[in-house]
Amino acid sequence: MNRIIDIDALEILDSRGFPTVRTTVLLDNGTAGVAMVPSGASTGEREAFELRDNDAARYLGKGVLKAVKNVKQKIAPALKGLEVHKQNYIDQLMIELDGTPQKKNLGANAILSVSLAVAHASANANKTPLFKNLNKDLQNFFLPVPLMNVINGGQHANNNIDFQEFMIVPHGANCFSESIRYGAEVFQKLKSMIEKMGMSSAVGDEGGFAPNLDSNEHALSLILDSIESAGYAPGEDISIALDVASSEFYKDNLYHIDSEGLKLNSEEMCSFLTKLVKNYPIVSIEDGMDQNDWTGWQKLTSSLGNDTQLVGDDLFVTNVEFLQKGINEKSANSILIKVNQIGTLSETLSTIELANANNFEVVVSHRSGETEDNSISDLACSSGATQIKAGSMSRSDRLSKYNRLLVIEHMLGADCSFSGSKIFKK
Ligand code: PGA
Ligand code: ZN
Repeated sequence: MNRIIDIDALEILDSRGFPTVRTTVLLDNGTAGVAMVPSGASTGEREAFELRDNDAARYLGKGVLKAVKNVKQKIAPALKGLEVHKQNYIDQLMIELDGTPQKKNLGANAILSVSLAVAHASANANKTPLFKNLNKDLQNFFLPVPLMNVINGGQHANNNIDFQEFMIVPHGANCFSESIRYGAEVFQKLKSMIEKMGMSSAVGDEGGFAPNLDSNEHALSLILDSIESAGYAPGEDISIALDVASSEFYKDNLYHIDSEGLKLNSEEMCSFLTKLVKNYPIVSIEDGMDQNDWTGWQKLTSSLGNDTQLVGDDLFVTNVEFLQKGINEKSANSILIKVNQIGTLSETLSTIELANANNFEVVVSHRSGETEDNSISDLACSSGATQIKAGSMSRSDRLSKYNRLLVIEHMLGADCSFSGSKIFKK
């Protein structure tokens, strides 16, 4: 039967050195499942609640001992004795135990740590890799195209670039491992180009470079040069994706692009992005418009949506309710999926299902604060996601996700395919 006999949790540190929750679900057959939760910096307003201690005497108030206590003293007693394979039932029980829409009582970090640890424990009890255990009927797995964040700006770096992420998309590769090689080669070329310009090649939170450049376009041209100097054709082999993260610089109904001295209204922001897509091989733009500028999103989608992927991150926060609004109103054509934005695996899977049913592309994503946990790699392969965004080609918290996908590709051999260029309309 594989019943839960104990749940333990502790406070560990994430990739930024801030506390997060690590949880172990122990089963009566002696097996266990472990999960660690990530944490964002440019969080959406409507995300599930991350419970922190706010005790200034510890970790600048960012401790998670309350969340750990909630796992051990509130969630564990409710789950002991339950069959571990009943993921939906267990997640629903935790949602009810919390009783608030944003998981404010127990904390989404507490709940998610248990939800993911349950998934791992179930897979381990079945002696099945997580990606197979999550979707037992699937025969042909698709490995996601990686979106690699090679230049970091915005909230993720101490530089003057407004846009948060400049990503390379090696969609022209014929398999996942080749796409990783393409990306890693471009990353190294970019590094030497930045150093030749006399700038620092130190990296930001997601392992991408964080040079001080005079404009967002400068970052784009630098990436184009690095793609070419690595011997690849921009747009054919490797394209560019942006996470504008515009909610971070939307103030008083205007988009403040400080590095270029611009203050744009919604219409002008839409034209600004449309021009960038015309001039550069950009296949995907995430959060081009603010999380509350729903009409701006509609404008952007009618202007670019036919041939460019427009990804809602802060807009949808992995929540079926907001995704449904976006589907109804034709805002965006793709969704970013972050497990801790919603707080349980089952709810994450429901959101992915709704996206798949409405032809929205699914991009499974890490957070800027990460750990060595790589559950999202298995999630991407099992759920029909066509892409994964897990940071740059440096730092083990990022590479653990890509390395896990290399292992999955190796395990599956001929039983997996790579989505590649087919998914991008442009
Ligand atoms: P976050 O950023 O994890 O800091 O919220 C990632 C993103 O905006 O995609
Ligand atoms: Zn984002």
